[in-house]
Amino acid sequence: MRTPVIAANWKMNKTQAAARQFLADFLPRVAGLEGVELIICPPFTALAAVAEGLRGSRVGLGAQNMSEKDPGAYTGEVAGEMLVEAGCRYVILGHSERRHIYGETDQLVGAKVRTAVRHGLIPILCIGETLEEREAGKTDAVNRRQLLAGLEGLTAGEVAGAIIAYEPVWAIGTGKNCDPGEAQRTIAAVRAMVAEAFGADAAARVRIQYGGSVKPGNIGSYMAQPDIDGALVGGASLDPASFAEICAAAR
Ligand code: G3P
Repeated sequence: MRTPVIAANWKMNKTQAAARQFLADFLPRVAGLEGVELIICPPFTALAAVAEGLRGSRVGLGAQNMSEKDPGAYTGEVAGEMLVEAGCRYVILGHSERRHIYGETDQLVGAKVRTAVRHGLIPILCIGETLEEREAGKTDAVNRRQLLAGLEGLTAGEVAGAIIAYEPVWAIGTGKNCDPGEAQRTIAAVRAMVAEAFGADAAARVRIQYGGSVKPGNIGSYMAQPDIDGALVGGASLDPASFAEICAAAR
């Protein structure tokens, strides 16, 4: 039985003050929530404030990116050991915005995942196709390419402990969420790819989230699917009441 996991990807939103205000409203709403793993991924600048605010709660801290390199002359980058020291347990890697806006390659994402695992961080590896790729029937081929490159070099046990987030690019921030049945089909295919490459145990244990216009009104339809273990939430995670509603519905 896989523990459901819901993560907030705040993207480039919330100052430290806004993050503190969010937590003051959000944490009481989820205080008694059990049976679901909750993660908040703020911008780098708010990591310390959110870590402080989450102290004593069951909500975990994640980052939205990190360098594949160890500390050194890499202007603007953030190293895994810095995230660990800041209190992060998770890190989102390979988000479609990193890939399609900032040009991160499958190979770079894989290097980041390996570095994250080496630092004891739980990677949330994002994969997903564009609308053009879907319409060309390439969804599974794109997911396979991104998945295998992203997990390259990991042991089966490390894969089992990772989180994969299937986020069709065309559903991100558009309000056009993927049909839950189609999300199930696609995620079941991803799970089969994990089994083929890393074995049945890793495939059975790895958690796979859906992401792309998840809202309180549709989270239940995803959580009802046998292969969907949670959600990676963008816009709806910026509002404490909405995100708390999504978290509660994920149990
Ligand atoms: O990482 C989650 C994000 O890409 C989904 O965004 O706003 O469609 O929930 P949104």
